[in-house]
Amino acid sequence: MKDLLRTFIVAIDGPNSSGKSSLAKELAKRLNITYIDTGAMYRALGYYFLEKGYEMTDESARLHMKEPKLEFGFKDGKTAVILDSKDISIDIRTPEIAMAASNISKLLPVREYLVQLQRDMSKSKSVVMEGRDIGTVVFPNAEVKIYLTADIKTRALRRKEDYKKIGKEIALDEVIAEIEKRDKQDMERENSPLKVAEDAVVFDNSEMSFEETVEKALEIINEKVN
Ligand code: DC
Repeated sequence: MKDLLRTFIVAIDGPNSSGKSSLAKELAKRLNITYIDTGAMYRALGYYFLEKGYEMTDESARLHMKEPKLEFGFKDGKTAVILDSKDISIDIRTPEIAMAASNISKLLPVREYLVQLQRDMSKSKSVVMEGRDIGTVVFPNAEVKIYLTADIKTRALRRKEDYKKIGKEIALDEVIAEIEKRDKQDMERENSPLKVAEDAVVFDNSEMSFEETVEKALEIINEKVN
């Protein structure tokens, strides 16, 4: 790939477990730019609200969402999330917190707050940012927009493996049910629902190896940025 001379945004959106995180991380590594996992931000707030027993309503969000000090980083190839000095990077990866994140992400005050943080984190640098509304809301003018998807079985098998890595054995049907429920909620919500941006390149990676997926994304980036 030719050297990329100016700053640019690569927005990666798509449904649950479509491979967005693995792809985004690898692209950031190969392009030597910053990786931002916006799902981790919704997960961190979902975790905090559950832990405190706060309601997930607009009013409660306005009141409490700025209470915790949240820090996001990247360590040993993984998103690191620190909440009030506690490392919750692994705690936020459970099915319960995934659902809490999806629930809290419906609230407008939460979306406005986190979108602003996401824009601030990307000032004057190139980033690969993954989520549900990056190409549609956070960066509607992103140079590159990829909508990554895969069939439900492929996605569920990937998610099952992710759970296994954190010591959770969950039956495939349960994983499928969780993914379908969360996808429906993320796609049907009123505020910034998951949808394909008009100018996004959509690709289904069910039949592609990881390397093929990365190569294809790099081709798209090269074409759009140079
Ligand atoms: O990508 P993830 O599975 O870590 O995201 C968890 C939830 O957070 C997801 O179900 C919906 C929400 N989310 C969102 O609404 N907007 C984003 N940009 C990222 C995540």
